[in-house]
Amino acid sequence: MGGLILVFTIAIAVFFSSGINSQLVPAIITFGDSTVDVGNNDYIKTVFQADHPPYGKDFTNHQPTGRFCNGKLATDLTADNLGFTSYAPPYLSPQASGKNLLLGANFASAGSGYDDTTAELSHVIPLSQQLQYFKEYQSKLTSVAGSKNASDTIKGALYIIGSGNSDFLQNYYVNPFINKHYTVDEYSSYLISIFSSFVKSLYGQGARRIGATSLAPIGCLPLARTIFGQHERGCVASFNTDAQQFNKKINAAATQLQRQNPGLKIVIFDIFKPLYDLVQNPTKFGFTEATKGCCGTGTVETTSILCNQKSGICSNSTEYVFWDSVHPSQAANQVLADTLIIQGIPLIA
Ligand SMILES: *[C@@H]1O[C@H](CO)[C@@H](O)[C@H](O)[C@H]1NC(C)=O
Ligand SMILES: *[C@@H]1O[C@H](CO)[C@@H](O)[C@H](O)[C@H]1NC(C)=O
Repeated sequence: MGGLILVFTIAIAVFFSSGINSQLVPAIITFGDSTVDVGNNDYIKTVFQADHPPYGKDFTNHQPTGRFCNGKLATDLTADNLGFTSYAPPYLSPQASGKNLLLGANFASAGSGYDDTTAELSHVIPLSQQLQYFKEYQSKLTSVAGSKNASDTIKGALYIIGSGNSDFLQNYYVNPFINKHYTVDEYSSYLISIFSSFVKSLYGQGARRIGATSLAPIGCLPLARTIFGQHERGCVASFNTDAQQFNKKINAAATQLQRQNPGLKIVIFDIFKPLYDLVQNPTKFGFTEATKGCCGTGTVETTSILCNQKSGICSNSTEYVFWDSVHPSQAANQVLADTLIIQGIPLIA
């Protein structure tokens, strides 16, 4: 065990020292939901927007960016760890042009999922449309950087997929058209089949390094506790069981994809366990509050209607695991980003 920890420590030290001078990957290309959306929803008509204070209060310039957080997302912190000094702008923003395209692209949209129906319910960008935007991005990149540089960038880039939580919280659990017809297990398998086709499509277009996040302990999100847990302390256990079943399936799918597609490196990042540990034992990690978010009452506030300038905020968000009722604070995202390093970002980067 001690030996294993030593090996990890050395691997991380080498990894960080090599990250100081340059980026470990040429670009980062991101798909998914609010866990990774850097502001695409600011450019479409939906209520799922984080374009107003107090979102972004601890980000550079203290302005809202469209991120559902007080500061940086786990993926921003991961980009920092990989040696990036700036982030790909939201793909729908005017800044996603010219040289900025060399950094990569972010197509994610809060409220989206693997299932396009999830996105349609929230009027956000479905995953299939995010894939279309990726095709468009490749031709823009080719005109900016030339075809050799563009294909090297596409091949060398780190691809991040952060999706699935909304499929359960904003679709399956609340949508009788789905939950009356499919068991959770069937719906999970359906989502995984979409994930697998999506990865194959990325691979077909040149992607070789892919990291996807597992589901979070969705039963522990303050929103789930409030709406589905009858205000009990503790988490909605059945939701967490569903998430763990999904996570088993996505890990099996990734193993199979890696076997079937030569040269593909794919890692599923487990965010379930680190976030669950934070919620169960916040003080161990330097947090004091894990049952409600910092913004407003922290139990239901997530969107423009609910977490806004009039909502009060907690006095010190670094002590809160959650920023709003669904999304981790920057302080918690830092804990997650640190575990992603140990879980294999060096393997694919
Ligand atoms: C593409 O070109 C840019 C700017 O000239 C350069 O910084 C980058 O390293 C190139 N990327 C690849 C993958 O060759
Ligand atoms: C916020 O809380 C953290 C952790 O308890 C502490 O280290 C920090 O000093 C606090 N910041 C302020 C401004 O009180």
